[in-house]
Amino acid sequence: MATSSTRIGFGSDNHSGVHPDILAALSSASSGHAPSYGTDEVSARAAQTFEREFGPGTEAHFVFNGTAANVLALESCLKPFQSVFCSEHSHIHVDECGAPERFTGAKLVPLPSRDGKIRVEDARARLVRRGDQHHSQPGAISITQPTELGTVYGLDEIRDIAAFAKTNGLRLHMDGARLVNAAASLGVSLRELTRDTGVDVLSLGGTKNGLMFGEAVVFFRPELARDFKFRRKQAMQLPSKTRFIAAQFEAWLGTGLWKRTAERSNRMAERLAAGLAARDFVRLTQTRQANAVFVRIPKAWVARLREAYFFYVWNERTFECRLMTTFDTNEEAVDGFLRALDELHRTDPRSLES
Ligand SMILES: Cc1ncc(COP(=O)(O)O)c(C=O)c1O
Repeated sequence: MATSSTRIGFGSDNHSGVHPDILAALSSASSGHAPSYGTDEVSARAAQTFEREFGPGTEAHFVFNGTAANVLALESCLKPFQSVFCSEHSHIHVDECGAPERFTGAKLVPLPSRDGKIRVEDARARLVRRGDQHHSQPGAISITQPTELGTVYGLDEIRDIAAFAKTNGLRLHMDGARLVNAAASLGVSLRELTRDTGVDVLSLGGTKNGLMFGEAVVFFRPELARDFKFRRKQAMQLPSKTRFIAAQFEAWLGTGLWKRTAERSNRMAERLAAGLAARDFVRLTQTRQANAVFVRIPKAWVARLREAYFFYVWNERTFECRLMTTFDTNEEAVDGFLRALDELHRTDPRSLES
């Protein structure tokens, strides 16, 4: 039975259910018995799928969630006395409850950003006191693609950051919780967007694009992966029935499903952003490039709108709201939301400041 909680909203791309093809893959992986801890056939096939998608020598390891993927990816690049340059909006900085610092021992150095991206000049300005025993030593840069503000780094921007990192002996980590939305937006392959631009280690998420659970830490430099299995076990992130994460990634990466889900989700965000841009009583606050739309809406309308179509107020101070689309967002939800806005504008006109 449909209830209001099953209605399609814009809360997050992990509010959605599981894609039917993923459910089918899970079901098929469930027949019979198989060895555990990644020693089964499905996990072996998934490893090949990763190599096909990202290139020979790619090493992927599964964990339960995105925070763990980020923490373990960073830990593989860092010593506890080092630091990581990241955006002030990055998930690792604002949404992981300090886990990266607690588990890696390294310090996060947030760089200012208006659009979620970090810039080489800002990183360079903080490349100071190297060799000074009193100061955390820069060890890595972490970028999120697409960013937490829905913007997408172009290939050249990533190459520039990677070149800066390499010149200065820093590792480049990419938080790709929604990497597929960025790849679909740029029309490039996952490999072109990561390994080929100079990324060293990637946190690859699928949960926001149709998977049930599970993320991958993907290494493009074998030396960084050397101790990963020990780190993962110690961090309590070694799944025993690994085949169920592997089966999802195999189906999602190996059949092009990731592309279809991401394209659909981006298309719906584009439709939503275009509809909002055409209404002068709301204001888009970020350039829509993937599947997130950031907008200011008169404050007095927000509670009523959220009852019908849930979404988050991203910034409590400015009342900037975030609307996310995902693989099952449809035209009906987008157009219904825009109609609900029009109705409020007609019956309860307000300015953005009210
Ligand atoms: C940019 C980004 N990174 C990582 C994550 C993964 O978080 P979780 O630990 O909830 O899977 C998220 C989820 O919201 C995210 O938005």
